[in-house]
Amino acid sequence: MIEQFKKEVDQGLSASPKTLPSKYFYDEVGDDLFVQIMNMPEYYLTDCELEIFSKKTQELIDAFDINQNQEFEIIELGAGDGTKTKHLLKSLIDQEYNFTYIPIDISQNALDKLEKLLYEAWPNQKVRTMQGDYFGVLESLREGKKKKIVLFMGSNLGNMPHDRAHDFISKLGVNLNKGDRLLLGLDIIKDRSIVLPAYNDAQGITKAFNLNLLTRMNRELNANFDLSGFDHDPEYSEETGAAKSFILSTKDQEVIITAIGKSYHFKKGERIQTEISQKYNAEILQEVTKESHFEITDKIYDSRRYFADVILERK
Ligand code: AVI
Repeated sequence: MIEQFKKEVDQGLSASPKTLPSKYFYDEVGDDLFVQIMNMPEYYLTDCELEIFSKKTQELIDAFDINQNQEFEIIELGAGDGTKTKHLLKSLIDQEYNFTYIPIDISQNALDKLEKLLYEAWPNQKVRTMQGDYFGVLESLREGKKKKIVLFMGSNLGNMPHDRAHDFISKLGVNLNKGDRLLLGLDIIKDRSIVLPAYNDAQGITKAFNLNLLTRMNRELNANFDLSGFDHDPEYSEETGAAKSFILSTKDQEVIITAIGKSYHFKKGERIQTEISQKYNAEILQEVTKESHFEITDKIYDSRRYFADVILERK
């Protein structure tokens, strides 16, 4: 784990332009900051998808093409706290569908909390939490005969550039069977006056989230980043739909990362890209789903059409 972290940091900071992988945001502090981000007024994504799951629940269920006589599985990739999914589960349980809910997450702690919460609400509902990486777990479920509905919500696909998103969807296709469904929660390309504040909030929570990468390297890799010499610098293009976060060096400086045994130079104004949060339109969706065994069957939007849950059928 630490060896991988060292390797990826060294690769990213030796490249030109410099980069750091966004997966390293999520240590204990980062997880906490991300919960705060999801609750910020500027971060519209959470409210939009919650609106879809709470107000358009029946449309989602219809799009899954399920019936009460056929047992199926709902597999959620990166389940988190289940706030949105609970609306879907409630409606399915009320309508007496026969299914197992399988939340998959890297964090066993998150899964334990979710399991407890679901048990309190519906003690008879079949829930099987699975800890691990998505594909490892999906592969282990592959042999099962039941229809699968895979949920990949929260604009998580947006954190992958197009080629990685395409690979990810293709790989999901390989692990699913004909007739299975995939739900993708996607943020839609819109005006910068709406998107940028979501990644540059007034309270500075997103800045703290971004710069936490430096704190993490200081702690885990024995580095000496001085946070006062770096700033949060987000950008967004309405043409490409890419929202990108950078850490900007506000002065010429040298940073030593002792665990790697190297120092890195940062010029004044130089930026490290730390994240992409891709926003979608029909063309980009087409590009990342082409030749992937999937066909788009439904798109369910919130009332402002800021966000869509797209349903794809495995062909
Ligand atoms: C997890 N992911 C979908 C978030 C996003 O919107 O890209 C992470 C995030 N980064 C900054 N704010 C939120």
